[in-house]
This record gives sequence, C-alpha cells and structure tokens, in this order.
Amino acid sequence: MTDDRRNILVTSALPYANGPIHLGHLVEYVQTDIWVRFLRGRGHNVYYVCADDAHGTPIMLQARKEGISPEELIEQIGIQHREDFDDFQVQFDHYHTTHSPENRHYSEYIYRALADRGHIIQRTIRQAYDPDEEIFLPDRFIRGTCPRCGAQDQYGDSCESCSATYAPTDLKDPVSAISGATPIERESDHFFVKLADFESMLKDWTGSTGKLQPEVRNKLEEWFTAGLRDWDISRDAPYFGFEIPDQPGKYFYVWLDAPIGYMASFRSLCDREGIDFDSYWGVESTAELYHFIGKDILYFHTLFWPAMLHGAGFRKPTSVFAHGFLTVNGQKMSKSRGTYITARTYLNQLDPEYLRYYFATKLNSRVEDLDLNLDDFMQRVNSDLVGKVVNIASRCAGFISRRFDGELGARLSDSNLFDDFIKGNATIIGAYEAREFSRAMREIMAFADRANQYLNAQQPWAIARESGKEEQLQAICTLGLNLFRLLMIWLSPVVPMLATRTEHFLNCPIGSPESWKNLDRPLLDHRIEKFTRLLDRIEPSDIDAMIKDSTEPDNADAGRHLSAEPINPEISIDNFGKIDLRVALVTAATHVEGADKLLQLTLDIGGETRNVFAGIKSAYDPEKLIGRKVVLVANLAARKMRFGLSQGMVLAASGTNDNEGIFLIEPDTNAEPGMRVR
Ligand code: MSP
Ligand code: ZN
Repeated sequence: MTDDRRNILVTSALPYANGPIHLGHLVEYVQTDIWVRFLRGRGHNVYYVCADDAHGTPIMLQARKEGISPEELIEQIGIQHREDFDDFQVQFDHYHTTHSPENRHYSEYIYRALADRGHIIQRTIRQAYDPDEEIFLPDRFIRGTCPRCGAQDQYGDSCESCSATYAPTDLKDPVSAISGATPIERESDHFFVKLADFESMLKDWTGSTGKLQPEVRNKLEEWFTAGLRDWDISRDAPYFGFEIPDQPGKYFYVWLDAPIGYMASFRSLCDREGIDFDSYWGVESTAELYHFIGKDILYFHTLFWPAMLHGAGFRKPTSVFAHGFLTVNGQKMSKSRGTYITARTYLNQLDPEYLRYYFATKLNSRVEDLDLNLDDFMQRVNSDLVGKVVNIASRCAGFISRRFDGELGARLSDSNLFDDFIKGNATIIGAYEAREFSRAMREIMAFADRANQYLNAQQPWAIARESGKEEQLQAICTLGLNLFRLLMIWLSPVVPMLATRTEHFLNCPIGSPESWKNLDRPLLDHRIEKFTRLLDRIEPSDIDAMIKDSTEPDNADAGRHLSAEPINPEISIDNFGKIDLRVALVTAATHVEGADKLLQLTLDIGGETRNVFAGIKSAYDPEKLIGRKVVLVANLAARKMRFGLSQGMVLAASGTNDNEGIFLIEPDTNAEPGMRVR
C-alpha cells in the first residue's frame, strides 16, 4: 500500500423519517458507500455512520394524519429505511436516529456552550399562526395565491408556477395547510445563533481546507458577501423534537439537532465498539471527517454546522462533498409519469447493483445534476457489466473446468497485457479517491474492452479444436480470468455482491484490502470453481413493470372531483380495529366565536355526551345539523383548543381544496346512537 493508514469518519445526510427512500436519495448513499468501500479496500480505517432525521413539524403532522404517535411513525419508517439501505448494499457501521439520548445530550451540550460564550440571543418575532390548530406555521404550511403571477394554492415561501420567492405575509388569501384557517400574526420569543460571530473563522475554514469543491467555495463567497444573518434555532410547542433546557415550551429547530445526529450516531457506535470518540471529534483530532450531502443543504453544512462545532469546542469537517440532483428521463421525478421510484419499487424488479453501477458511470466530484435515463440505464448495464466484464469470464471458464479440471495454468499467455492492466491501477485508484467515479468506470471499461479484443484475436474456441495446443489454450484462459479478476477488484466498491460471487467462482479474495494489496500477483496453478451465471441482463419488461408500479394517476386522469392525494401506506386489520367509530346524534350545534372554520357540536353517543369542534362551518348551517346522525371517532385523544376541549372527531369527506366542499358521513336512518361503525 502506498499511503499510510488513515482514520476517516464519513457521513451521508440523514433522511427525513416521514417518507420512503427514493432513487434520488440513493445517489447520495450509493456515492458515499462506493467511496467508503474503496477506502476500506485500500486498507484505511473508515467509519460510515448515518441516522434518520426524526424531528420537526412535517413529521409531527404526518404522524397525526396517520393517527399514530410521532414515535411510532419514526420507528416504522426507521425500519423501512434500514431495509432499503441494506438491500442496496449501503453498508453503514451504524444507523441511528436523531430522536435518541445521545443526540439530546450533544444538542444540549452544544447549545449550552454557544449560550455560555454569548453566541445566542433572544428576540421576539412575529410569525404566522393557525388559530384553530394553535400552532405556528412554517412557511411550507401556508398556502395561498402567488402575489406575482396569481397562481392559486402556492406555498408560503415560493411559487411553483412562476418561481417567485416571497414572505408568507405577501401571499394573497393565505390559508393554513393544516386546518384551512386564515393565519393570524402572533408574537413569540425565539433564540438565534449569531452567525456573524463566526465569520472570520468560517472564511479561514473555507479557504484553508483546500478540499472544498470550487462551486461550493464560490457559493460561500456569495453568502459572505450577502452577509451572515442570525439563525433562528428555536420553535414553539407543539413541536416534535427536544425541549430547550430551561425554556419550557421552546424546542430546538430540527436543523439544529440534525447534523448533531452525525455525532450522536458515531457516539453510539463508539459505545458499542469501544472507539475513542474524542480522537474523532476533539479539536486536536487528526482523523479526517467528511460529510456527503445534496446541493440543497449546503448552507446548513458549510456555515451553521462548522460554526456550531467551532463554538462548542469541537473539530470542524475536513470537507463537505456536495452532489447534484437526480432527474429521471430528463425531468424531475414525477408520480404521474411513474418516475418517482422508491427504493422498494426498484428492488421488487431489479438488481440494486445495476443502479449502483449506473450511478457510478454518472458521478464525478462536481455539484452537477445527473439523469437516470431508463433506456440508457438498461443499455449501459447490459453492455458494460454483462456484455464486457462478465463475458470475459464466461468465455474462458468453460475450457478451464472441462479441459483442465478447474486448474489455471502456470503462466499467462501474454504477461505484457497483464502488466498494462497493473500500470492502469494508479489512475483508477486516483479517480476513486477524487470521487471521479465516472472516470474510474471509463478506465475500467477500456481495460475490459482490451481483454475482449485479446480474446477475439486469440480465439481460444478455435485453438480448442486444434490438437497439441492444450498448454496455449490454458495460458490464454488463465490470462483471461486473471484480467477478469483485476476488473472485478476494481469494480468491487461499486458492485459488492457481484464481487462476492466472483470471489467464490475464482476462489480468491475480491475487494478486501488483501485483494488490493496483492493485485499484481496473478493466480497461477490455482483451482477455480465451476462457472455459474454471475449476472443477468436487464429486460425491458423489468423496467416497464417498475414504472407501472410507480405510476399514480395525476389530477387530470383522476377527474375533477377526485382528490390526487395518494392512498396511505397499508395498515393491518388490527390497526384499523384500534379506531373506535360510533354513531352519534347531534343534540346541539353552534357557531364558535373567533373561529372561521369551526362549529361546536354536542353529540349523544348512547348514554354519553361529547363536545366536539368540527371544521365544517363553510358547508353546514348549525341549526340544520341538530337531529342529524354522524359518525364519531370516539377514542381519539381529546384535544385542548383555544375554545375548549374537543372530545373526538366527526367524519366527513373532503377534497384537497376547500372549494371542493365538505360532506358529513351519515349512517342510514335507523342506526342508533352509540352503535359501533366498522
Ligand atoms: N434531513 C435532511 C438532511 C439532514 S443532514 C443533517 C434532508 N433529508 S432528505 O431526506 O430530504 O434528503 C436526504 C439527502 O438526499 C439530502 O442530501 C438530499 O440532498 C438528497 N436528495 C434528496 N432528493 C434528491 C434527488 N432527487 N437527487 C439527489 N439527491 C437528493 O435533507
Ligand atoms: Zn407565481
């Protein structure tokens, strides 16, 4: 090995725990995993950690929508994420969650350190507030009409129609995406990190690491020029996250504790395996620390994160590596086009290593977007992996097992060709190290071409028919299989399972540090196993099936009144059985002062009376509701609202837009109050 053994800690960004892993995410995890496997193969000591990003408003609301606790939601999603990563051969040393004791510990520690050193200030801000749900609204949860182009139903921070960005207060006719209520402005005390305190440190860090990508350095220059603004790190209850020490009702904003999740995950690994945490995170650390991230989360990783680390007395990252975004067939992934493909949908049809290889042919060290063109994907994989690489083995293996009892010969038919391959090793290693995977793949495939050209020229199948040329035939096939061995060691970080199958076939290590170290030592007088199929071609029908499984009807297909909301994940009958639905008789109904969506209902559920606030004011006149029967979710946790306690929920149908109406669900005439609905 040419370089010394390095100690390296690598991370990928922590996926949010409110949805499945999709092929876009996988760009990052595959990129990181290839790099880590390569460095391990080169004999370095590498730890690769990740975690689910489990906090924040979207996760809290998603759980509420599914009728489960946030803890249950992140538990379920965490299991799915782990399975997806396992099956894609993304090999973390540890996969944690940000909702963990370790993360609480380091979040509080870093916060206190920043506060003690005067880097945190408190300020009162005005913010949009949902008066019905009694919750402050993040920009994404306010919808309204774009102030610039007039497009309806746009987010509170930007318009998807004309790309304008604005403040939520600029939106016309704003509504809360949670309740439909008109947001009001409300004051609240927030905590801010004074980012400008760290400006000179950040400038030094940017300039000195020398390892930041040029595009990233340029972006940082822009941000320095624009000026570093205070960063709001607190959120008000209700919030799913960590409460700020000594500040009841105030929580750490999810982006404060998310990157700390890298530390927490590593801490948990250290506790399990007896690794010295401080030798990786202490200011004196000589270990390398790298974060792989998407270009959308640069600000958090190159400004906030180094500032937090520095301010709390930890080391800073050696570098942050940003990648671009994945498009499928040249466009943003889309559910209606069937190109929003989840990891699981892909795995149901295709070998994960096809995608790992394809991404490798597209990835480089720059922050460029990359396209998964599904036709190109199929052709590339079939032509390179199956048609070039595996083909070499299948052309030579039969002769060795049939004619030579599985024994490779004592010499290579052309040792110059073998030496040429070995000379190419440095270039391939250099490309991997520099994260220029597409260049590495091109080099490797150029060698695969040379191996095939050699076999075409030598024609072992013709020699096999001539008598007295046994030794020559064996030497040619021995060379062919040795070249195949080199190609597979080089490809092992990308296609680890194919490498393992090759290991069994060739009876020698492929991908381990030992295999890289002994790369230049050919297998001679060596017994191999019988050749079995190493890799199948991709069939167009596999890809069609994957697209079909990914396609959801869009608005137009679904018709005007059908909501485009996807069906929720499947639940078991047991889970459904937990919901206690009852027939209820409306005995009183009134308007609620100060609420523009709510009616107050008094319900008789057969011997018990319930008070319920229902968001049906736009569709029903309270007078006319009295005497009607409705369906009540009777065992829903009661909710304290500004107007009083709401003890359950009345079922009604509604579309995604308010103007599609609200329709109460009503049991048939003779149903009695208190009857179970199932
Ligand atoms: N939870 C934050 C990260 C916190 S890190 C302390 C987050 N999560 S995410 O699930 O939205 O994204 C996880 C990673 O996947 C991010 O690095 C993001 O850039 C990347 N990608 C998400 N969609 C992607 C594509 N379509 N293409 C490439 N990468 C993508 O952000
Ligand atoms: Zn607009």
